Amino acid sequence: MLKWLQETYNAKVITFTADLGQEFADPTRFKDIEEKAYKLGAIKHYTVDLKDEFVKNYIFPTIKANGLYQGEYPLSTAVGRPLIAIEAVKIAKKEGADAVAHGCTGRGNDQVRINITCIAYAPELECLQPLIEWGMGRDDELKYAEKHGIPISKQNVKYSTDENLFGRSTECDILEHPEIEAPEDSKEWTTAPEKAPNEPEYVKIDFEKGVPVALNDKKLDGVSLIGELHAIGCKHGVGRIDHMEDRTIGLKSRETYECPAAMVLIKAHKDLEKYVCTKHENSFKTTVDQKWTELAYEGLWVDPLKDALEAFINEINKKVSGWVKVKLFKGNISVVARDSEYGLYDLKLATYDTDSKFDQKLSYGFIPLHGMQSQMAFQIKKKIEKRD
Ligand code: ARG
Repeated sequence: MLKWLQETYNAKVITFTADLGQEFADPTRFKDIEEKAYKLGAIKHYTVDLKDEFVKNYIFPTIKANGLYQGEYPLSTAVGRPLIAIEAVKIAKKEGADAVAHGCTGRGNDQVRINITCIAYAPELECLQPLIEWGMGRDDELKYAEKHGIPISKQNVKYSTDENLFGRSTECDILEHPEIEAPEDSKEWTTAPEKAPNEPEYVKIDFEKGVPVALNDKKLDGVSLIGELHAIGCKHGVGRIDHMEDRTIGLKSRETYECPAAMVLIKAHKDLEKYVCTKHENSFKTTVDQKWTELAYEGLWVDPLKDALEAFINEINKKVSGWVKVKLFKGNISVVARDSEYGLYDLKLATYDTDSKFDQKLSYGFIPLHGMQSQMAFQIKKKIEKRD
């Protein structure tokens, strides 16, 4: 793209790489990217460490919203995009650039997320998508790279990948055949569950106001906590996802992910939230979470509805404080224990033992009232069936 922009527009190009924590897979990667940019003619290169901001303003809100798109995908790529776009716009403005260009195709979600955010933050800038304009497919792009002596990083030759602190997405090649199991070479982070340790490992996560603050009783900042949990999760092969996904533009695609830390944290958070909320809050929260997740997935990070939903989500999360114990074993994540000073569980009420303080005789009044209308309607349904 860098070469093409110079050739096609005679443009001076400044390159930008966002550090969203993807380097924990390979710490040399940022240096390589920078060297490659200068070698190919970039007039300036930025690598910006956005890890703290990513965790605080993008990952934590996703955890509080139990953000699983279509019940499966923890939005790891999706929530990184608006942050990248905002930072790109900042750099473009600072450098007096008149356009921002990004490497998204016209088929995916990332283009939607990046374009919408860029234009919302800087309507005066143009947002270019060379990959649409140049009309090359992935195969032609690889030929173009070869012709111009552009090195392709190892992990992108076969698959298209995106990585950050919250997860790794892998697409293309054989993965485009949903009827075939994703091969082991498409995974880079996690141990295959069948090769994971034969002993389970327990992790204890402390939450304060819906946000993870400690791992195994050790207080940690968000970035370190996610990093440490990531390592444990990878070892036990958890967080592998194979998902038939409905993209924003309506295409159905098979998506594969490795999101160990994200899956553990969302599962633990959801459990604790359910423990401290009423059944009415829990029921409505599911609806709010789903809408929030769809906005985030569909790139509408700037929509005011997201702020309004977050006001509700944050209100609920004020009491999501306590701890959750999670068991990791051969690809499985199970919540096995939890506690909170705000829990609505009362042993004296819930117990089946004789000394329960719950008055079972209340059932005599509750059940007839609770069932009254449904029972009436059931009789009427029978009457209608007879009539027809
Ligand atoms: N389907 C995912 C999403 O929309 C992942 C996109 C991943 N991008 C990539 N270049 N592999 O968030």
